[in-house]
Amino acid sequence: MKGVILAGGTASRLRPLTWVTNKHLLPVYEKPMIYYPLEAMARAGIKDIMITTSPGHAGHFMNLLRSGRDFGLKISYEIQEEAGGLSEAVALTEQFVGNDKFMVILGDNIFDHNLAKAVQDFEAQEKGAKVFFKKVEEASQYGVGVFDENGTLLKVEEKPEVPKSDLAQTGLYMYDSQAFGFVKSLERSARGELEITDLNNAYIDAGQMSYEIMEGDWIDAGSSHDELLKANIMVAKLVKEGKLPKLWEDAKNVRAVDPELVREMPV
Ligand code: G1P
Repeated sequence: MKGVILAGGTASRLRPLTWVTNKHLLPVYEKPMIYYPLEAMARAGIKDIMITTSPGHAGHFMNLLRSGRDFGLKISYEIQEEAGGLSEAVALTEQFVGNDKFMVILGDNIFDHNLAKAVQDFEAQEKGAKVFFKKVEEASQYGVGVFDENGTLLKVEEKPEVPKSDLAQTGLYMYDSQAFGFVKSLERSARGELEITDLNNAYIDAGQMSYEIMEGDWIDAGSSHDELLKANIMVAKLVKEGKLPKLWEDAKNVRAVDPELVREMPV
């Protein structure tokens, strides 16, 4: 399975922190934000990863992560010329993914959920996609799952004023290569973007979507200054509890945390 990390956008909500760099490179406790989705993929055995980002920031990612060799990964890059939405960014990875299945993580999503099992389950799923929900207090800030009384997922509503459940769609998705066909049939939303929620609804309408409720902690670290602060506190706690990898002693002199350490972490 391939990995895709979406790290574009202008992050105007986080200015002035984001005037000169990308929000996914801002510090979260010990590391730049993007290390957390990268490590989540590495721990699940996904080593071939594409990062999509905006033209002005691509060089910053390359300076930091280079080829990915220090992380035991192969990292490639794709430029999203304009902020046209998450599904538009997914479409840019078509050649990279080919006929494979792929995992997408939004570069500002940090969690300690066990992805290895989810990857195994999705490999066994004949076709389609998988989304991950998390119970939250203020669901209206997210995509929200709508379910029937048997727990069947009927649709996802993007940032509804009156949420029909308290289950937020996290920024973790698994797709097969049909995603690229579905994206071509999407229309732009009111804010002029190709929404990830519309791609997910296309899979739901086709009867090909499975879902999981995410365990553990999850945070959308890039949505506001307050969430970024909360993410720092949450990650510091998770690292100290041994639920996320800690920087090894020499890590201040190299770019990556020890890949061995990443592999040995409980998943
Ligand atoms: C995006 C998605 C939303 C999802 C969220 C999770 O929103 O559009 O459905 O719940 O990511 O992080 P954004 O944070 O880009 O506004």
